[in-house]
Amino acid sequence: MFVKDETQFIQPFGVDLDLENGIMLDATHRLERRASDMLGYYQNEEALKQLIESEGDPLHYEVFECPVPEEYGHLMYCISTLQPGRIGDECYMTKGHYHTVLETSEIYLCLKGEGFMMMKTPEGEWKTEKMVKGRMVYVPAYWAHRSINTGDTPLISFCVYPGDAGHNYGDIIEDGFPARVFLRDKEIIIEEEQ
Ligand code: F6R
Ligand code: MN
Repeated sequence: MFVKDETQFIQPFGVDLDLENGIMLDATHRLERRASDMLGYYQNEEALKQLIESEGDPLHYEVFECPVPEEYGHLMYCISTLQPGRIGDECYMTKGHYHTVLETSEIYLCLKGEGFMMMKTPEGEWKTEKMVKGRMVYVPAYWAHRSINTGDTPLISFCVYPGDAGHNYGDIIEDGFPARVFLRDKEIIIEEEQ
């Protein structure tokens, strides 16, 4: 048999995407992150708590996925839709993660909106790449990544990454990223952490 143990044999399939609204129509998994899931991530924790209280814990971002074997040889793909807004004056962002298998990369194709991909290595090197409709960001192996929405519409991306990549959030909760993105007087400011 030509099929190897580490990679399941599955049938080919197609998926319909609503590129305008950032929705994967046949998605079987919809992961939702609300404001309360972001406690501990923003500089101004008080502002986040106030938002949760006054707005009833609004949606922060969502990820639509289809089930593909999470193993070597397959490709995971999803649509990630990050709402616009500010916590204090810090732009809305995703939690961010390393891949558990550090030697795995990811492609983010921005379908709508604008913002940045913030990336860092375990050694503390960091980099931002502009995200805007029609631009693709290549997140190389070893780089943790977080999307940040600097606009006033949802930031929508289509992502593809190896099936066995996995997600490591713990190291980001501990160490954060070396820089944050703010919008002050309509100006985008990328500020390094002290
Ligand atoms: C997958 C990936 C994206 C993110 C999504 C949500 O490896 O990078 O699909 O999972 O943008 O962000 P996080 O995972 O940081 O909450
Ligand atoms: Mn990833």
